[in-house]
Amino acid sequence: MISDHADAYVAKVSGEQVRRSELGTKAVWFFRALLLIPFVLMGPEVVSAIAGRPDGIANVSASVADVLGTSTFLIFIMMLAVTPVHTITGWRWHVILRRDYGIAMFATAATDLTLAATTTGDTFPGTVLTRVGGHTFLVAGTLSTLLLVPLVVTANRRAQLWLGRHWKSVQRLTYVVWGTILIHLFLLFGLGTVFLYAVAVSLPLALMRVPWVRRWWDSARRAGTHRTLRIVAVVVLIGIFALGYVPLAHELADKGAAAFVQNPVRD
Ligand code: HEM
Repeated sequence: MISDHADAYVAKVSGEQVRRSELGTKAVWFFRALLLIPFVLMGPEVVSAIAGRPDGIANVSASVADVLGTSTFLIFIMMLAVTPVHTITGWRWHVILRRDYGIAMFATAATDLTLAATTTGDTFPGTVLTRVGGHTFLVAGTLSTLLLVPLVVTANRRAQLWLGRHWKSVQRLTYVVWGTILIHLFLLFGLGTVFLYAVAVSLPLALMRVPWVRRWWDSARRAGTHRTLRIVAVVVLIGIFALGYVPLAHELADKGAAAFVQNPVRD
């Protein structure tokens, strides 16, 4: 006879034992699989460029910022959503995704930077330094990527033990990266669509990090009080989040599909 808990297994999150159901495990793997999307979308163009096909480099140059920039940002947002989702629902099965998404964000941003440095000479003529820093918006993009290095290097238990109470200070660099990404997008688009989408997804995630909001929500959830208020707030927060997230995901689907068939959108 199989017991009720036969489909549950114990995983370690930040050194803490977390029991995760089979459904939770499948959901974690689903969210991990999504992280392959940017590499699948860019794969054909990168292979063509390496194989020296005509237009290979020009195609990568046209797609890289749109596909990998948007992907990096969407991954970042998903990573930032982990803690608010825990505060709102009390779930723990997904907390492991914070680290996975952080590492994947770095991999995507580093690929973005590498391809920008090597292929975008048609848009930013000059040396490699011009391609990664010839405009203030490029400096902000490059800086955002480089700031991820200390975050990813310390995203493990050994670094956490070694750094002790300083570990949290290092992880707070995430908020600096949040700022430099918004600056990157503001310098590129002004108060236009992409920047406003980024602000819309950021607002609910920032609000749920305000200490007193977080504490209030946490204790109301545990005590089972203010249910209606919390439901209305969740609907409003998800609505604002979706105003930014949906068009960005749509943009990635459009530009990513064009890149995949090696017919990139040249804007
Ligand atoms: C954490 C790293 C980064 C993030 C999150 C990020 C995010 C974004 C986003 C969301 C866009 C808008 C794409 C669109 O039009 O839909 C964008 C555009 C752009 N990014 Fe980045 N980016 C990053 C790093 C970089 C780097 C390293 C470079 C180059 C050195 C770069 C250069 C550009 C350029 C040139 C555009 C304009 C593309 C266009 O509209 O044609 N970005 N970025």
